[in-house]
Amino acid sequence: MNNDAIISVTNLVKRYNGFTAVDGVSFDIKRGEILGLLGPNGAGKSTIISILCCLLKPTSGRVIINGFDIEKNNNEIKKIIGVVPQEISLYHTLSARENLTFYAKVYGMSGKALKKKTEALLDMVGLTERADDRLEGYSGGMKRRINIAVALLHDPEILILDEPSTGVDPQSRKRIYDTIRKLNQKGVTVLLTTHQMEDAEDLCDRIAIVDKGKLIALDTLHGLLDMVGQSDIIHVMTKGIQPDTAESIRQIETVEKVSVDDGNMTIQLVHGREMLAGIIDTLISSGTRVESIQIKEPDLETLFLHLTGTALRK
Ligand SMILES: Nc1ncnc2c1ncn2[C@@H]1O[C@H](COP(=O)(O)OP(=O)(O)O)[C@@H](O)[C@H]1O
Ligand SMILES: [Mg+2]
Repeated sequence: MNNDAIISVTNLVKRYNGFTAVDGVSFDIKRGEILGLLGPNGAGKSTIISILCCLLKPTSGRVIINGFDIEKNNNEIKKIIGVVPQEISLYHTLSARENLTFYAKVYGMSGKALKKKTEALLDMVGLTERADDRLEGYSGGMKRRINIAVALLHDPEILILDEPSTGVDPQSRKRIYDTIRKLNQKGVTVLLTTHQMEDAEDLCDRIAIVDKGKLIALDTLHGLLDMVGQSDIIHVMTKGIQPDTAESIRQIETVEKVSVDDGNMTIQLVHGREMLAGIIDTLISSGTRVESIQIKEPDLETLFLHLTGTALRK
């Protein structure tokens, strides 16, 4: 086990009546990092984090959190973890402030300490102004923000969020990202799951790619993208392409492959962005009327396709 690891998962397996949802997953989470589990629906992400939060027993494997074994030290682990589930577990006829107060009392807080904590958390998730409105009028994103506040009542060292931006409006999403970053800067280790590559790209120090119960890659965004190679793809739509135009494009340095289908040309090349001006020049000087041009650089979607043969988005 790596000494920097606050969470260490070894050969984790979970079977539901013979169906293997998690199939021998191992990874470490470093103290102070934001790690994302990225994978399509059904990949096993929620199952993995439910086990880490002691809500579900593994079929086999080992999980150590801050030196504690999930099989033996359940209570110790619950004290240091805050969980934001995908499903909202709040009282919809109560206000945000009342919900937070209720949960704070569950944690044994009272008086000034309770007041101070709940107000600070309402402020952190940006809901102070709406704090006395009943939750029934809240958007999905606002409810998610309250859920985050509830998860933070006991000052956890580790925050685990299941799909924090799914079904969330852009404004709440930004607020949720800001809150996660702020907590992380204060030293909170974050584990989140997502099926949206933007979450992984924008927020995570490292990304674990999960598919069909297996962890198929784990690295920084740059490290992962290096696995796909360096080629970019440029799509050009035109009014029609002369046969020798494709040949001229092929002559351009760094171009690896050119294909033409009707008026559409697809160019695979290295350093696409830098080469774009030269490509447009060549097209224009050969008399091609360009209607639109698009550049696609490798991203997590390309990587997922590369690793699994299926698309991340469905
Ligand atoms: N309680 C359960 N009983 C049976 N199968 C389950 C149960 N929970 C999840 N699964 C199955 O396990 C697989 C992984 O589910 P889950 O961990 O929820 O994936 P994700 O969070 O990545 O979408 C899915 O095929 C799902 O249908
Ligand atoms: Mg899930």
